[in-house]
Amino acid sequence: MVTRIGVLTSGGDSPGMNAAIRAIVRAGLKAGKEMYVIYDGYKGLVEGSIEKVDRTFVANIIAWGGTVIRSARLPEFADIEVRKKGVEQLKKYGIDALVVIGGDGTYLGAKKLTEMGINCIGLPGTIDNDLACTDYTIGFDTALNTIVQCVDKLRDTSSSHQRCSVIEVMGNHCGDLALYSGVACGAELIISPDHQLPKEEVMATLRDLKMHSKRHALVIVSEKLFDVKDLAREIEIETGFESRAEVLGRIQRGGSPTAFDRILAARMGVFAIELLLQGKSGRCVGIVQNHLIDYDIYEALKMERDKHVQLLNVIATLK
Ligand code: F6P
Repeated sequence: MVTRIGVLTSGGDSPGMNAAIRAIVRAGLKAGKEMYVIYDGYKGLVEGSIEKVDRTFVANIIAWGGTVIRSARLPEFADIEVRKKGVEQLKKYGIDALVVIGGDGTYLGAKKLTEMGINCIGLPGTIDNDLACTDYTIGFDTALNTIVQCVDKLRDTSSSHQRCSVIEVMGNHCGDLALYSGVACGAELIISPDHQLPKEEVMATLRDLKMHSKRHALVIVSEKLFDVKDLAREIEIETGFESRAEVLGRIQRGGSPTAFDRILAARMGVFAIELLLQGKSGRCVGIVQNHLIDYDIYEALKMERDKHVQLLNVIATLK
């Protein structure tokens, strides 16, 4: 039975991570466990940046963006020698279990730590929504709403100036932020890994819109596909639509979490502690059709992401 539980956040931060930390700490304390936070993700673990916490540590943080225990990326954690240092630090404090909040890289680290005797549970904390084992990751809804607010503002100025706005959104290699925000904002075009459009189709669509007296256009593009500045220039040359490129960037990762993300984080945090109390480890948590489920981390990482057939149909029908 686990006695001392640590929590860390790793990888790109996401709104709702604090709400998850709060839930984990409170649920652990309620179960009579000693609770610890590890600062700066796996980097802080290796360096021994660890602190025992009580209820007051997590007071008020439910509404805060970012993560109060900070985050970092440490690719070197793939190296067993680096991980051994982390395990030594945990042993110093007598910590026998960890809840890690992050994306796929974070999960892999957790599984490897489990194989080294630390009981780990992973929670999906990323704005990208790129973990196939869950319908939603903590932070996706907030980032989506931030994008929608930004695009609504861009629509105002686009329309005043009769321009085409080419807007790059995050998501790493996952197109969910682009697809969902594109539908929510009624974008003229959405270009994402799940909805790739040949350049000719992009130009033809915009030329057609212009011919039919559409005065402005919104084009939402997933990051890492191409340079949106180049695309805006090409659009201007080939369609006559004066165009501007906008990269929304890390603004998408900030801000107070939505109610949806806070509730998701609270549910998943409590569930993570329940899993540890049941003696489970090397597992990650997902929400599927509003039910919490746990999966073996390796199995979860092999799962195929939803192809969003229904959403793509909506996009095709409404264009
Ligand atoms: O994984 C979250 C994310 O925001 C991705 O959408 C993006 O590609 C990446 O992190 C950016 O990371 P960083 O802030 O470390 O440059």
